[in-house]
Amino acid sequence: MPKGTIAITIRKLSHTFYSVHLIPYTIEVEMADILQLIGALSIAVSITFICSLLLLWKPYSRIPSLKDKHVVITGGSSGIGLAIAKEALAQGAYVTMIARNLAKLEAAAQEILHELQCEKNRINIKAADVRNYEAISAAINESFQWRPFDVILLNAGVGSASYMDKVSIESIDTIVGTNLIGTLYTLRVALPLMKEISYRHPSALVLVGSLASLYPAYGGGVYTCTKYALRGLAENLRLELLPYKIAVSFVCPGFVETAMLTQMEDSIVDPVMAEVARKVTFYSRRRAENSRDVAKATLKAVTQGRSFLATGWKGSLLFILSTGILPADSFAKAVLGMIVQVPARVFGYLIICYVYAVIWVNHRTKTIIIKNSADK
Ligand SMILES: NC(=O)c1ccc[n+]([C@@H]2O[C@H](COP(=O)([O-])OP(=O)(O)OC[C@H]3O[C@@H](n4cnc5c(N)ncnc54)[C@H](OP(=O)(O)O)[C@@H]3O)[C@@H](O)[C@H]2O)c1
Repeated sequence: MPKGTIAITIRKLSHTFYSVHLIPYTIEVEMADILQLIGALSIAVSITFICSLLLLWKPYSRIPSLKDKHVVITGGSSGIGLAIAKEALAQGAYVTMIARNLAKLEAAAQEILHELQCEKNRINIKAADVRNYEAISAAINESFQWRPFDVILLNAGVGSASYMDKVSIESIDTIVGTNLIGTLYTLRVALPLMKEISYRHPSALVLVGSLASLYPAYGGGVYTCTKYALRGLAENLRLELLPYKIAVSFVCPGFVETAMLTQMEDSIVDPVMAEVARKVTFYSRRRAENSRDVAKATLKAVTQGRSFLATGWKGSLLFILSTGILPADSFAKAVLGMIVQVPARVFGYLIICYVYAVIWVNHRTKTIIIKNSADK
């Protein structure tokens, strides 16, 4: 224990009828007492911090295995949704797949039966448009009667690109209607059912976001808007469902090799937008993620009770840069997040300098060149 004392000079306020003075006086404090006080304060702060985080992680609402659990997937007939259906069935779950096109759903179910050789009664298909409240309500209620839900994945989504001054009203309606309103409608029907049984039946809710929930998808303003909104919704649900055994996970896949990626690419007709979007989102079709890997990671996040999942390094970095007030998934991640905040922010500024440069250069030079050649 270090010995010695520290002299602390304090100024005490003193006043007479005419004036106010500060009278200095000195007290001597033992060095050992100061160290003990600092030690006790640090221990108290750490214990409070750890306890509050442990409480917020809701370990009581985890689903450790998907064996014989009922997994419901909106947008389950293709891409990421279909891959999740296959993976869940491979892990022994019962699966309900919801999408608009019945023929596509039936073909997907056949594909799964052929590939996995699983029992037919493990798959339930429902044709419904998430934008139609009556239709999704019937699909969800009937599926719940088939089996109560253990996991529901709100995955149905569409996307296309256009500058905001040129986007069609139909496109706005479809993207917002499917990605946002459709998710809200599905939740509105499913949540009361899940809440009612939640005291004896832990369940999980997964919202499928995107890198566009954390970073602007250049040229995809409407898509970005819906995916940012889903992040807000997920965070709100984490608080709202705290008293229930319903875990909330928000999943942000990177670029995934699916039909939607092709549709998104095809919708970009402006060459300047194509070039800028590719550069500022660091997009390369060759490096697109595999839907099977995304499905595996998503279901692992569910069984581990994780509240956030980014399937690539870009998403993990962006999540660190945009972390809100809600706690990280584990104590280690909370500490790591705090340590890497500063370097991540410096890196983020370097990236955004590059992004600004790409946008300026392309719009100042190429747009003018394209306009001039069109005028000739
Ligand atoms: N692919 C990517 O790069 C990527 C990246 C990040 C996030 N995501 C997200 O992942 C989710 C799935 O995308 P994906 O790439 O797998 O797309 P996908 O292959 O095109 O699949 C979309 C699924 O949603 C269904 N669907 C579309 N509109 C619907 C509606 N109104 N009602 C009900 N079902 C509807 C489709 O079936 P029907 O057409 O028959 O309805 C299909 O089953 C989306 O939320 C997307 O935003 C994708």
